[in-house]
Formats: sequence, C-alpha cells, structure tokens
Amino acid sequence: MPTLIEKPKQVAYGHFLLRIESGTEHSAPGQFINIRTSRQNDPLLRRPFSIFNHERTVMSIVVKSVGRGSEILSQHPPGAIDAIGPLGTGFTLAANRRVLIAGGGVGNAPLFYLIKTLAGLHCDITYLYGVRAKELVYLPEQYKRHSNRFIITTDDGSEGTRGYATDVASELAAGGGYDMIYTCGPLPMMRAMVEAAKSTPVEVSLENYFGCGIGICSGCSIETADGLKRACVSGPVFNGSRINWDSMQDIY
Ligand SMILES: Cc1cc2nc3c(=O)[nH]c(=O)nc-3n(C[C@H](O)[C@H](O)[C@H](O)COP(=O)(O)OP(=O)(O)OC[C@H]3O[C@@H](n4cnc5c(N)ncnc54)[C@H](O)[C@@H]3O)c2cc1C
Ligand code: FES
Repeated sequence: MPTLIEKPKQVAYGHFLLRIESGTEHSAPGQFINIRTSRQNDPLLRRPFSIFNHERTVMSIVVKSVGRGSEILSQHPPGAIDAIGPLGTGFTLAANRRVLIAGGGVGNAPLFYLIKTLAGLHCDITYLYGVRAKELVYLPEQYKRHSNRFIITTDDGSEGTRGYATDVASELAAGGGYDMIYTCGPLPMMRAMVEAAKSTPVEVSLENYFGCGIGICSGCSIETADGLKRACVSGPVFNGSRINWDSMQDIY
C-alpha cells in the first residue's frame, strides 16, 4: 500500500503538497493517481489527482481543497494512503523542441513533472503560470528553475503580469515559434490556445469530472473527432484539435 511520507504541506492558499512513497519508479508526466479519501462511504468514489513530481519511488501531488474529498486529503495523517495508479495517458515527449507550456490555477500541477522531463530532454521552455491572485501561486521557484522563460500572470496584478491567463496564453500561442504547446487549466484557456495555435500541435490535459477513473462507468466521456472517448483511459491528455470543445461546456 502506498504511504504518505509526511503530513501534507501547505504551499499556497488552500493548496497542499502530498509526498507519497509509491513503490514504483514508473510513471509519465500527465498521468494521475486515483485516491480513496475516506474509509467510510462518503466520499464513495476515488478522487483523481495529477502527478506533480516523481523522483525514484516518491510521487507528489498538489491538492486544492474544494470539497469533502480534497479537504480530507489535505488533513491526511502520514501512513498508508489508498491510492492506485499511475493511470491514464501521458504527454508526448520529444527532445530539442521549442515548447510553450501554460497552466491555469491548479492545472499547473501536471505541468511541473512535464517541464522537468522536457528540460532534461534539452527543450527550450516558455512557461506561463496563470492564477487569479498572488496567494494561489505555489512553488514558483521550482517551475522557474526548469524554464528558459517563466511568466506569471494574475487576474488582479498582485504578482507578475496583470491579465487573464487565457488572453496571454492565446497571444503567445498565436505568436508562433513553437514546435509544441501543452496546457492544463480552465476550459476557456485550453480552448483559446488550441484555436490560436493554428498548425502547432497542442496537447491538453483535461480535468473533467471522473467517476470510477478506470474505464468502467463512462462517466468521463468526451466528444472528439474520433468519437466518444473516456477521458480516464484515452486521456486525460488529448490532442486539443480533436476535441469537440462546444460539447465540453456541459460537462466541465
Ligand atoms: C485527471 C484529473 C486530474 C486532476 N488533478 C488535480 C490536481 O492535480 N490537483 C487538484 O487539486 N485537483 C485535481 N483534479 C480535480 C480533483 O479531482 C477534484 O477537485 C476533486 O475530485 C474534488 O473532490 P472533492 O470531494 O474535494 O470535491 P466535491 O465535493 O466532489 O466537489 C466540490 C466542488 O468541486 C467541484 N469539482 C469536483 N471535481 C471537479 C473537477 N474535476 N473539476 C472542476 N471542479 C470540480 C464540484 O463541482 C464542486 O463544486 C483533477 C481531476 C482530474 C479529472
Ligand atoms: S471515470 Fe469511469 S470510465 Fe472514466
């Protein structure tokens, strides 16, 4: 059974870093783990969290406390934790590319493991870290260390550039000069980047509602140009240009 190594550490307002001895060295950036947060029946379903980092056998996740399950996790005592994974698909990794990576809010979480891996593959990384306000920025120094250019935007200008991440991200994407774009965050931001990117490939990591998280219930299905896809097994990482973005409004 995976073990929570120490008590969750608060890294920003309402955001907690959990370090888990997973027993495996194998995972890919973009994959997630599915955690049973309570031994009781409430919450009944496991909750999915992206892998923030993975070093040797220690996996970390960043949990934003938004409801009962994430609140329980943010207070989880050290010791056994009922987590399964890694699950789902990862991002496409290639060496020596110029990449634009944009995260919005807690959507920055899967992108740290990605930039760390791409930096090791000698990619030139422009990272856009978008949040609503300064108190929601977590671990910026770690992101900065692995980026060639690092931009923070806040809606209220309390840190970095004042502006909506959606606007800045789509401007950067439209500017071109990248071989690959990756994003995870609010739906409008990911959609705007896909639309602005023209011919540059964009991979998006979806965080729509999951049920079982292991391909059984179809509760996470999304419409794509290739038909209905279960985001927990065919994703959460998708080619953004294949997603039917209009249909996503109802499930996000
Ligand atoms: C593949 C994947 C990766 C994810 N990675 C992370 C991560 O790294 N860190 C993180 O903090 N969260 C992540 N999430 C979201 C996280 O799973 C949910 O916030 C969590 O399941 C909420 O559970 P809860 O019991 O706390 O809240 P609930 O009581 O279930 O819901 C509380 C509130 O949160 C909203 N909510 C619940 N699930 C989601 C969701 N998926 N998206 C948006 N709003 C939601 C509900 O509408 C409700 O308003 C991820 C989701 C997916 C599908
Ligand atoms: S969440 Fe059940 S099939 Fe994806």
